[in-house]
Amino acid sequence: MNVLSAIAVLAIGGPVTVWAGSSGCLCAYGESCWPASTFSQLQSQVSQPLIYPLPSASACYPLSHPSGNCTAVQANWLDGNWRASIPGSMEAPNFETITFQNGTIDACYRNTSIAGTCDQGSVPVIGVDARSAEDIQTAVHFAVQHNLKLVVKNTGHDFLGRSTARGSFVVWTHNMKNITYNSAFVPQGAPASETYEAAVNNYGRLMVGGSSAGGSIGSSGGWLAGGGHSALSPNYGLGVDNALEISVVLSSGKFLTENKYQNSDLFWALRGGGGSTYGIVTSVTYRTYPSVPTQLYTYQANITNTSAAVELVGGLLRFQTQFTDDGWGGYGFISAQQISFFIFGPNMTNETAMTSTQAWHNFSASLTQFGVVSTDKLYHAPSWYTLYQLIFSGGVENGQNVMITNRLLSRNSVATKYVELAEILVNCTASFNMVAGGKVSQINPNSAGLNPAWRKAVTETVCGVSWDEGTSAVDIEGMISQLKGWIKATYDLTPNDGAYFNEGSLFEINWQETFFGSHCATLKSIKDKYDPYRLFVVAEGVGSEEWNADLTCRY
Ligand SMILES: Cc1cc2nc3c(=O)[nH]c(=O)nc-3n(C[C@H](O)[C@H](O)[C@H](O)COP(=O)(O)OP(=O)(O)OC[C@H]3O[C@@H](n4cnc5c(N)ncnc54)[C@H](O)[C@@H]3O)c2cc1C
Ligand SMILES: *[C@@H]1O[C@H](CO)[C@@H](O)[C@H](O)[C@H]1NC(C)=O
Ligand SMILES: *[C@@H]1O[C@H](CO)[C@@H](O)[C@H](O)[C@H]1NC(C)=O
Ligand SMILES: *[C@@H]1O[C@H](CO)[C@@H](O)[C@H](O)[C@H]1NC(C)=O
Ligand SMILES: *[C@@H]1O[C@H](CO)[C@@H](O)[C@H](O)[C@H]1NC(C)=O
Ligand SMILES: *[C@@H]1O[C@H](CO)[C@@H](O)[C@H](O)[C@H]1NC(C)=O
Ligand SMILES: *[C@@H]1O[C@H](CO)[C@@H](O)[C@H](O)[C@H]1NC(C)=O
Ligand SMILES: *[C@@H]1O[C@H](CO)[C@@H](O)[C@H](O)[C@H]1NC(C)=O
Ligand SMILES: *[C@@H]1O[C@H](CO)[C@@H](O)[C@H](O)[C@H]1NC(C)=O
Ligand SMILES: *[C@@H]1O[C@H](CO)[C@@H](O)[C@H](O)[C@H]1NC(C)=O
Ligand SMILES: *[C@@H]1O[C@H](CO)[C@@H](O)[C@H](O)[C@H]1NC(C)=O
Repeated sequence: MNVLSAIAVLAIGGPVTVWAGSSGCLCAYGESCWPASTFSQLQSQVSQPLIYPLPSASACYPLSHPSGNCTAVQANWLDGNWRASIPGSMEAPNFETITFQNGTIDACYRNTSIAGTCDQGSVPVIGVDARSAEDIQTAVHFAVQHNLKLVVKNTGHDFLGRSTARGSFVVWTHNMKNITYNSAFVPQGAPASETYEAAVNNYGRLMVGGSSAGGSIGSSGGWLAGGGHSALSPNYGLGVDNALEISVVLSSGKFLTENKYQNSDLFWALRGGGGSTYGIVTSVTYRTYPSVPTQLYTYQANITNTSAAVELVGGLLRFQTQFTDDGWGGYGFISAQQISFFIFGPNMTNETAMTSTQAWHNFSASLTQFGVVSTDKLYHAPSWYTLYQLIFSGGVENGQNVMITNRLLSRNSVATKYVELAEILVNCTASFNMVAGGKVSQINPNSAGLNPAWRKAVTETVCGVSWDEGTSAVDIEGMISQLKGWIKATYDLTPNDGAYFNEGSLFEINWQETFFGSHCATLKSIKDKYDPYRLFVVAEGVGSEEWNADLTCRY
């Protein structure tokens, strides 16, 4: 730890006497170390009332006298933006729950006939509704001083539940949404932050962002930290390739701005080295691009012959290379009965779009004789944003209990292992994100902390399991076994490929290598340099191997 950061800590509060870095365990709610009476001091130092997060369904309980509007819970359960607006809510509610050793699931369910009580599960108990870097500095200082189990939460979209933890103290960044457009940005200049699309489009520009129904993913939290993929990535790169400057609060309390000119090692790590590992990001400046006319290609096939479905998926895998190198990006869905996808071609002419999809069209048509009934279509739109609004501005897709795994399939893997991979993808009812290849492969793998597997990849395939709430721990274990089976089968076929940190599983094989590849050791040294208090730890994050399974005690 350097002298400056020590001074910064002192400037915020008293000297730090205890921290997890020394030894032992973090303090969680319910333990005698919990600083219950000290929170009033914290309250006096932050801009907003402290928050007391509750599970998403808590308004429906107690059943006799619901504490809030249960109608709203029932109506909005699947809405990603509603969930993101609730400090205790996770997009996948299974991460709000906790399963005890004896198999009891501590939870709060939407379906109120399942359980008579509503318990806190893995939802944090108290926290700061941060509105500024100062609020975050204060919160971080408090957490370090009292050795608290800390989580950082933005939208709660994380697929490994990294933005929630039982008995924890939360820094909630969801309300930091200030956006500034700067037509002549110079590094170490104006900050920009969350939720960008409308504002950017107001300026006739486009930028690389995530896609979800209603636009519920944050633009500057976990999405960026893990890599940040977009349908636009084959043309413009990933989120990490478009971030020009990032500001962050460290565990020392110090506020730092980094870009390629200053604190460049931290800038490198924050771009792909994982969320909640180095510090808390308070703002990000992104590059934007001129708005361009955009093509949309849609494809759908209904299939009655499973072997033909596998053949079609094998072809689709092989075509990922050409599609993405031509600049197409988008999303697809695979089952034994139906295969569909929609992809965007920014700044592509009608003619190029037609030529570029012709070989695939022909390949698909060649399977008609085996019962593949397909239809495809090209649309031309004046801008990417027109299509974005058409497809993503509404709808709901969250609120399901889900666990997923993914693989970043390399050019080599889709060319040589497509038959075996297609069998797994049909079996797991996969989805795929055509968000690599093209521009993503042209960028120097060592330009960001991001997993180098991204630079060799042409597509990201995703397998997952989901279940109804109320499912027993034993049955959920069964689902997880299935997930582990796909993980192993895919890993064995593609041992040199990796996986995307943000859409992975708690059960990835060899997770350090899988998520960070050859960058793992460098990321660890940067983490140790900038997080000397070891305040930031998340499942399968860099450095988490130093912690026990529930990430509360250091080895
Ligand atoms: C419906 C849906 C659609 C998705 N679509 C895409 C997509 O198009 N592209 C894509 O790449 N991914 C996508 N994802 C995955 C997404 O990138 C991850 O869920 C990501 O973790 C979300 O980050 P968040 O900040 O919004 O969520 P959170 O769950 O709040 O945070 C995720 C992680 O980042 C940490 N974190 C959050 N904010 C900060 C901060 N300010 N500083 C430091 N750490 C922070 C948290 O502690 C946690 O570890 C999607 C997920 C869902 C559920
Ligand atoms: C409860 O939520 C429903 C659905 O969102 C809404 O229509 C209704 O006005 C709310 N009632 C109260 C009392 O806020
Ligand atoms: C299961 O364990 C939890 C936590 O230890 C405990 O509260 C609960 O009573 C136990 N339930 C049963 C049925 O043993
Ligand atoms: C709610 O749970 C009960 C009890 O498990 C079950 O019988 C019922 O089908 C569930 N309702 C819904 C809508 O899932
Ligand atoms: C948002 O950004 C603008 C422009 O930089 C600034 O004037 C304003 O104070 C910021 N608001 C907050 C809450 O940070
Ligand atoms: C199913 O498709 C395969 C090609 O994948 C073909 O060899 C087989 O004859 C087809 N079966 C039927 C019943 O059409
Ligand atoms: C769009 O494509 C044309 C022709 O390939 C190219 O000259 C132009 O620079 C591109 N425009 C943008 C904004 O990318
Ligand atoms: C696709 O098939 C059409 C008609 O059979 C043929 O004219 C065309 O050359 C084929 N194109 C490609 C790229 O295979
Ligand atoms: C596939 O089947 C669905 C109904 O299940 C239908 O709506 C769709 O039009 C079919 N697609 C094709 C290409 O035939
Ligand atoms: C491209 O196709 C669209 C219809 O899909 C049409 O409106 C537009 O004029 C075409 N552009 C050119 C340059 O031919
Ligand atoms: C996937 O494979 C497993 C094991 O062979 C099998 O039990 C399951 O039915 C298959 N699922 C699908 C959708 O083909």
